[in-house]
Amino acid sequence: MRTLREISDLRDALSEYRQRGQRIALAPTMGNLHAGHLALIEAARQHADVVVSSLFVNPMQFGPGEDLDAYPRTFEADQQALTDAGCDVLFAPTTQTLYPNRLDAQTSVQVPVVSEGLCGGDRPGHFDGVATVVTMLFNLVQPDIACFGEKDYQQLAVIRKMVADLHMPIEIIGVPIVRNEDGLAFSSRNGYLSPDERAKAPSLYYTLCTMRDALEKGADHHEVLQQGHQALYDAGFKPDYIELRDRALGPVDTKTGEAVLLAAAKLGPARLIDNLTLTLP
Ligand code: PAJ
Repeated sequence: MRTLREISDLRDALSEYRQRGQRIALAPTMGNLHAGHLALIEAARQHADVVVSSLFVNPMQFGPGEDLDAYPRTFEADQQALTDAGCDVLFAPTTQTLYPNRLDAQTSVQVPVVSEGLCGGDRPGHFDGVATVVTMLFNLVQPDIACFGEKDYQQLAVIRKMVADLHMPIEIIGVPIVRNEDGLAFSSRNGYLSPDERAKAPSLYYTLCTMRDALEKGADHHEVLQQGHQALYDAGFKPDYIELRDRALGPVDTKTGEAVLLAAAKLGPARLIDNLTLTLP
């Protein structure tokens, strides 16, 4: 695997592949890689000839008081994991490289409506930061396809909408959530949990499973959401939101019944998110 830090080196490397007519896939990450990230690399390998991953902890998507400084940085282990997973190119720019004129930068990419509410409601400006850095990465790599995890369901919806609205010629692949054996979705933020909190953390997933089962049997939405909130409180979480939406994150569509249940909750120092798709009767 080639690790490249400079934009010019990335462009040179990728033009070689492109001249050979090879299809390029991109899997963007912020590092501290786990099995969820590696599933993106695997999906990328299945859909393209050349796999590029990026590793960049993007300051623009962290709000004031969020965990930018504390975010785990494990570069050497990440490099090894990507090599073992069959990644061809790792692009790991510095902040100075991607945002050389940060104070003067005037351009940002905003995807309203789909960015509002849910995590966008709790983290103002977060999805502007995500959409802007992903646009930069798309412009730098110019991939044929790009892989994003369904764990960050709203992020995936934002990227899909951005790509559609701006006619970006990139196929977006959503990769299913990878979970630990006890049901907790892999996340770099799980590392913030104490052993006691880590033992409680799977309740987020099991609460969503209980809610899904009740909703699929026709239970009242309002009641199920209230019970879910209570169950999370009882398990020691501070819920930010639990919501039922249609798959594009609009209001629930009772005609098709295709829905998604999304939750974010704080457990000690960590803010965990999870979601489950379901079909309403
Ligand atoms: P990061 O949190 O590192 O996640 C990188 C990618 O891995 C995202 O597409 C995310 O959805 C996916 N992912 C994380 N945990 C997963 C899991 N358990 N199962 C499946 N996929 C999982 O998301 C970001 O970084 C950033 O916002 C980024 C897109 C890189 C822009 O800065």
